[in-house]
Amino acid sequence: MALYAIGDLHLHFGSECKAPMQRTDPAWRGHVKRVQTNCQTILKPEDTLVLVGDHSWGKDLAQAQPDLAFIASLPGKKVLLRGNHDQFWEVGKTARLNALYEGRLFFLQNNFFPCGDYALVGTKGYCFEGPFYLDRRGRVKGWDESGYAQAEKLVDRELARLRRSLESARAAGYNRYILFLHYPPTNLLQRRSAFTDLAEEYGAHQVVYAHSHGRARFHDSIQGDFRSITYSLVSGDYLGWMPKKLLP
Ligand SMILES: [Fe+2]
Ligand SMILES: [Fe+2]
Repeated sequence: MALYAIGDLHLHFGSECKAPMQRTDPAWRGHVKRVQTNCQTILKPEDTLVLVGDHSWGKDLAQAQPDLAFIASLPGKKVLLRGNHDQFWEVGKTARLNALYEGRLFFLQNNFFPCGDYALVGTKGYCFEGPFYLDRRGRVKGWDESGYAQAEKLVDRELARLRRSLESARAAGYNRYILFLHYPPTNLLQRRSAFTDLAEEYGAHQVVYAHSHGRARFHDSIQGDFRSITYSLVSGDYLGWMPKKLLP
């Protein structure tokens, strides 16, 4: 019973693709077919696949429905996290989505998904992405202060959601956690963040995130082992559209 993850499929079966890069970047060529073939090759029915946000360019559920149907057609149990582009999914409507797709897809928000001894817990997360101001040598000399303050509020809200989810898993008897965030856990200026602190507080086994796609952004945040937790970037183009195995 293995656990895999991949993010940022940015499907558009029922909507318009809003990122021209997807059409021109060789890393994205045939990406839907590649994801499908790779999933069919590696995933068994008892395995779990977490899709770490930015599933669909659809602006509502009607437009996103064909994309969700594609994800549902992949092998294994599918768990979905909210990304910043998932307009079909309002936080308050998560229970409704779970009822609508019961037995086909699980929407991870203010809840948890059991995977063996582990509880899978997640939220969109947030991190400040600029603008940063650079000196002549390209070093960061400052940033947009009001934007940064606004970002901190969003971080607090996402942190509260993640803590609630961890508490619901703990109340159900779980003490091993894998945390999923759509945004990277740290911004470009940070070594640690409120999210890495929370992961450490609960003794999380892994932190898994996406959102950073395009070669220039692959090293925006932590990867590998850091303070007893393993951090993984799983954006699809970074993985070459092959889901990353997280367990066993
Ligand atoms: Fe994305
Ligand atoms: Fe994103």
